[in-house]
Formats: sequence, C-alpha cells, structure tokens
Amino acid sequence: MTDLLELQKSFLLRHIGEGDTVADFTMGNGHDTLWLSNTVGKNGRVYAFDIQPQALESTRELLEREAVSRNYTLILDSHSECDKYIDTPIKAGVFNLGYLPGSDKKITTLHQTTRVAVEKAINMLAPDGILLIAVYPGHDEGTVEGNMLAEMLAEYNRRKYCCACFRILNSPISPFFYTIESK
Ligand SMILES: C[S@@+](CC[C@H](N)C(=O)[O-])C[C@H]1O[C@@H](n2cnc3c(N)ncnc32)[C@H](O)[C@@H]1O
Repeated sequence: MTDLLELQKSFLLRHIGEGDTVADFTMGNGHDTLWLSNTVGKNGRVYAFDIQPQALESTRELLEREAVSRNYTLILDSHSECDKYIDTPIKAGVFNLGYLPGSDKKITTLHQTTRVAVEKAINMLAPDGILLIAVYPGHDEGTVEGNMLAEMLAEYNRRKYCCACFRILNSPISPFFYTIESK
C-alpha cells in the first residue's frame, strides 16, 4: 500500500542528488535535515530553520551522532526570514508543518508565516527543483494551513510550476502533502 513518507522521498530524489543546495524549513528533531545532508553529500549544502532552540540542539546532536558531512547550517529563525540566509537557488525545500514531536505543542507553524515562507521558497527554487510541504489536518491550525496552501498554490502559472496534492481520501485526518515542481 502507498506509504506517504516513501512517496515523499521518491519525489525529492527525482530532483536532488550529490552537490545540491537544499533547505529544511522546519528542522524539528532533524530527521529530514539528516536525510537531506546524506543525500546531497559533502559537496552539497543544507540550510535548516527552526524557531525553537530545543530543535537546533536535538538536530545538532543527531547530525553529530550520525557523523554526517559538515554540509549543514542550522538557523534559529523563522522560515519566513529564509531569504536573509540563503542567497543561492535551492534544488529542494522541505516543510513539515505542525508541532515539534515530543514537545508540549505550544508552538506550531502558523498559516501567516507559512505563507510568506512558501512564497519565498518558491522564488528561490532552481530550475527542475521541488518543494515538498507536509500538512497535518488533525489540528485546527493544520486545517487552516492546508486550505490556505491549496488556494495559494492553485494560482501559480502552470507553465512555470506544477503544484500537486497527495492525500489518502479514506483517512481524512492523516497527514498529506503538496509538491511544487519548477520547470
Ligand atoms: C512537525 S515539526 C518538524 C519535524 C521535523 N521535520 C523532523 O524531522 O523532526 C515542525 C517544526 O516547525 C517548527 N516551526 C514552527 N514555526 C516555525 C517557523 N516560523 N519557522 C521555522 N520553523 C518553525 C516547530 O518549532 C517544529 O519544530
């Protein structure tokens, strides 16, 4: 049966490889940062953002424990400020919206800043690049973010971008994801 996480990775791997510059816009505990770091290798670069110091700490620990290449920059700031830190096109960007797993759930991504960040990330995409945005509709803000993104992405010019949604229809509160691929 379809595994959405595997499907996400297969989408990303169609666009990225050794030496690419990519971004993890919601670092959390660092699992996506780790995967991206291994995928782009020692000649690549991963920019990772989170607003919680706790996320940076656990990500740094994970990356050091796994002894990946020093190809990452961990940034304690909102993804909506990403253009202050990244001045080259990115081949891929990952958003995993919602709460930090294992936290008290007081801090979540918010549709206002998510919107700004996604708009900026789309503008940063290199040719043949991809953004992947995982949405969690099981909580109120996740539903708002999901609806906002559907409306926003529908407006992008199809000649320049392919915006799609992957969702399990018979499991409506399960996470789903959007992809934005640049020509
Ligand atoms: C679902 S978690 C990410 C999980 C992560 N990908 C992993 O592998 O563990 C969402 C993260 O987004 C972070 N976040 C919330 N608002 C943010 C913002 N404005 N900019 C960057 N990160 C933000 C939260 O602190 C949280 O750690």
